[in-house]
Amino acid sequence: MSAWPDALTGIAFGGDYNPEQWPRETWEQDARLMAEAGVTVVSVGIFSWALLEPEQDRFDLDWLGEVMDLLHRSGISVDLATATASPPPWLSHQHPEILPQNADGTRLWPGGRQAWCPSSPVFRERALSLVTALAQRFAGHPALVMWHVSNELGGHNARCFCDVSAADFRRWLERRYGDLEHLNDAWGTTFWSQRYTDWEQILPPRTAPTFPNPTQQLDFSRFSSDALLDHYRAERDLLHRLSPGVPVTTNFMVMSHVRDMDYFAWGPEMDVVSQDHYLEAHRDDAHVELAFSADLTRGVANGRPWFLMEHSPSAVNWQERNIAKQPGQLRRNSLAHVARGADAVCFFQWRASRAGAEKYHSALVPHAGTDTRLWREVVELGRTLEAIGEVAGSRVRADVAILFDWEARWAAELDSHPSRDVTYLDLMQRIYRALWDLGVTVDLVHPGSDLSSYRMVVAPTLYLTTDSTAAELRSYVEQGGLLLVSYWSGIVDEHDHVRLGGYPGAFRDLLGISTEEFFPLRAGEQVRLGGDLLAGAAAQVWTELLSLRGADEVAGYVDGPLPGIPALTRNEVGSGAAWYLATRPDEMGTAALVRELCAASGVDVHQHGGVEVVRRHGPEASYLFVLNHTAEEVEVAATGTDLVSGGVCAGDVRVPAGSVAVVREEVPQGARP
Ligand code: GLA
Ligand code: GLA
Repeated sequence: MSAWPDALTGIAFGGDYNPEQWPRETWEQDARLMAEAGVTVVSVGIFSWALLEPEQDRFDLDWLGEVMDLLHRSGISVDLATATASPPPWLSHQHPEILPQNADGTRLWPGGRQAWCPSSPVFRERALSLVTALAQRFAGHPALVMWHVSNELGGHNARCFCDVSAADFRRWLERRYGDLEHLNDAWGTTFWSQRYTDWEQILPPRTAPTFPNPTQQLDFSRFSSDALLDHYRAERDLLHRLSPGVPVTTNFMVMSHVRDMDYFAWGPEMDVVSQDHYLEAHRDDAHVELAFSADLTRGVANGRPWFLMEHSPSAVNWQERNIAKQPGQLRRNSLAHVARGADAVCFFQWRASRAGAEKYHSALVPHAGTDTRLWREVVELGRTLEAIGEVAGSRVRADVAILFDWEARWAAELDSHPSRDVTYLDLMQRIYRALWDLGVTVDLVHPGSDLSSYRMVVAPTLYLTTDSTAAELRSYVEQGGLLLVSYWSGIVDEHDHVRLGGYPGAFRDLLGISTEEFFPLRAGEQVRLGGDLLAGAAAQVWTELLSLRGADEVAGYVDGPLPGIPALTRNEVGSGAAWYLATRPDEMGTAALVRELCAASGVDVHQHGGVEVVRRHGPEASYLFVLNHTAEEVEVAATGTDLVSGGVCAGDVRVPAGSVAVVREEVPQGARP
């Protein structure tokens, strides 16, 4: 099954609702305020296991029933949590074996949240028992529109190194390798005397005297993501059986700082892909990271509309300095997600808590109440989302794809590599930023995706590359595509074994180059670049001793460890071209490169200087989102009706500083798909 909840029409609006923290009088007030703000859906019960099952097998679901009834009477739909995110104290007290363990053997105790081992059969059984009780009671409730499994699976417990996990890891390895010989080969265990002669000898990569085996680490990352996904499936399958027809989701964390879950493997298992996003408030381009995460979420959802389950009304509580949002930012951030495919805009949380670890996290109803600028902005957002409701269901289209692969990320960021400055997202986000600046919409897709519709494909830091990915990229280029591959791509196979004969083994022939040695740079070291395209630009982090094997040099190093050696190359293959970027250019160089590649592949660019411009396409109309992140009013070409202001745009739309417009552009009859 794969379906958006029927009851949620337009752009859904709401948030996590935790009424169990409040007396009943507050519930009535909440329902009134939700109606005032235009809230259409709330997620209920996420952390209420301890109240729903105060002791084993004694369920107290009546209070939740009252909440559901009240919400239904108020016209608000419920995304009902399975409440399994955080086990109650009685459970870990009775069964301390469910507690997770760190790599160094430290047990993670209850008292925070999510203190459970993903492989624990005891935890699984207790969780499914609660899900059964909830589904039996609420499957037919008229407020229920979606099930919300657990919460941010893997948020705090993604990797458990306990003995139960060790046994589960061994079972996973047996399924992957069949016999020990294949495992020993894959893990390269002749190195450092690690050869295994019995499955029982194999452990998770616990803290060791020095670098643990890299393939063991990579497989443990794969296993850990799978173990959590297994938990999701167990709850989902039960819900499909007991509550047929109601879609099931869980909230992802597709954010730059989260890397433990392979969401491309998870996406197809979801009825609806949901996502939580929190701004990296310390970054001055936090809105670009937001766009990147939203595009990646759309990739995980395979292009379908997705559900923004959480973001923050203003500050969070868990960063080092929790920066409040500027006036207008709430709406701008919300619409940035919608522009990139979200059909729901929800928040953590409805009402700011009085107690607990998140009491300083902003909420739709702040501690100060409703006579506040935040509440007024919340009400305004509700009106805006209602006004743009017809956008729901429309799709984003992109001419450019950037390949993203969590396995490549895990492998690329292991210890004992040539330079700690080469991190998976670094170059990818620099290239994304340069495309964002040019107004180019990007799909972030898995390397296994169909790439034929893209004019340009970028493979940044695709360190681990399978044979089939290499073959698909070759045929993409042969058939006329433009491909840009960067340093630290195509170096190893799926077992993290180096592809021999010159780097990057997976792409050497396609790129028409061969590298014999890496020359990473010292911290802060710069080298100057030459060649028409990059003259005047500098580079940092990485250089390599590269020779041409059929490709043309586009730029080279003027100084540094490798003067005269090519830094950027281009190779014609079939009717396309494969470019190789062997270093990390500065902003100016990256911008020049990206502009050149767009020109070469026929990708339209529009420079709007800090203004985000994205389109969603529906059968009857397109919707042009204009998000003005600057302090000046801007004018962008547009013809149609601005759904936000109601104004008619004859040729252009004026968007005040910090504001937004969503222009409905009629699609001419003949041009409809
Ligand atoms: C030490 C060890 C070697 C090797 C090198 C790497 O000298 O004895 O086995 O690990 O370090 O620099
Ligand atoms: C996550 C969780 C929420 C809450 C927020 C705070 O997204 O899912 O329960 O902790 O973070 O930002």
